[in-house]
Amino acid sequence: MIILGIESSCDETAAAIVKNGLEILSNVVSSQIAVHSPFGGVVPELASRKHVEAILVVIDRALKDALLQIDDIDAIAVTRGPGLIGSLLVGLSAAKALSYSLNKPIIDVNHLEGHIHAAFICEGKYPKGPSVCLVVSGGHSALYYLKSVENRPEFLGGTLDDAAGEAFDKVAKLLKLGYPGGVIIDKLSEKGNPQAIDFPRAFLGKESLDFSFSGLKTAVVNFVKKYGGPEQIESFPVKIEDIAASFQEAVVDVLVQKTRLAAKRHKAKNVIVVGGVAANRRLRERFVEAATFEGWQLFIPPIHLCTDNAAMIAAAGYFVWKRKGFCRNTLELDALSRWL
Ligand code: KG4
Ligand code: ZN
Repeated sequence: MIILGIESSCDETAAAIVKNGLEILSNVVSSQIAVHSPFGGVVPELASRKHVEAILVVIDRALKDALLQIDDIDAIAVTRGPGLIGSLLVGLSAAKALSYSLNKPIIDVNHLEGHIHAAFICEGKYPKGPSVCLVVSGGHSALYYLKSVENRPEFLGGTLDDAAGEAFDKVAKLLKLGYPGGVIIDKLSEKGNPQAIDFPRAFLGKESLDFSFSGLKTAVVNFVKKYGGPEQIESFPVKIEDIAASFQEAVVDVLVQKTRLAAKRHKAKNVIVVGGVAANRRLRERFVEAATFEGWQLFIPPIHLCTDNAAMIAAAGYFVWKRKGFCRNTLELDALSRWL
């Protein structure tokens, strides 16, 4: 089964071709970082316009890289949601146009389920038995229970305010470090002391599987204000690297702790960590340690498959198709801004 994946839920326009849910034949991502950088975050209208410019180019490139013609494709898997509506509509419309004109079936894919499948593609294997999945990206921080890879992930808990990646991006903006913040804070933290500042960790009660990062963000704002604001950062008594590392440690502590709780509660022996924030060096380190201690089988995608891409959508599409077949009423398929 050769599937063309299309992804346009946020600020990456992507197309990929994946065989039988595991073998990547091509994976093309056109990033909009340069477009959104001056604003310190994604500007939805600009994102939609850039998707329109790039969508056919990336699909064409994905076919060429895979040495295939469009007729060789068995189906089109496309991100239906969650995401920015204007952005989603570009990928969805391209998928519908290809489907209608070439008579190819569509598989509608949940973006978060796509992220989860990124963890299996390169491993070439799937978890045996139940798993707990942590999805941490710019738009989401959520825990899911996955009975088996054939099943739909069940939502266990999510963020009440900022997503983990959003917190990284907002703190970086506040510290005037640039965009996207996650990568920059990760890099700075390498030279910082994670214990330098004791930023708060919001556990929301011992039993909660929800997240909240806005209090942590406010704590960083207050800390910076106390010493005269971001303009005075050079004369702060602590190094910027220490602020970055201490903030990062607070985020990672909560993510590891909540995943531990979810794995215990659901007797999961597999833990899957995915999404843009799963590219974080410290998060990866801490999950490797936790997996050794708890005896988990750990699945984390390689860094280039953590952030948005279409290979993960094609890979997940293969399982969505096995579970519920192709999409009916293709032309009526609507985009969903929220979809747990
Ligand atoms: O999954 P993704 O590409 O897009 C969404 O679905 O949201 O995730 C993007 C997010 C951004 O917030 C970015 O700052 C964060 O992932 N990110 C990181 C790292 N690389 C990307 N956060 C922490 N450390 C990183 N190395
Ligand atoms: Zn994503």
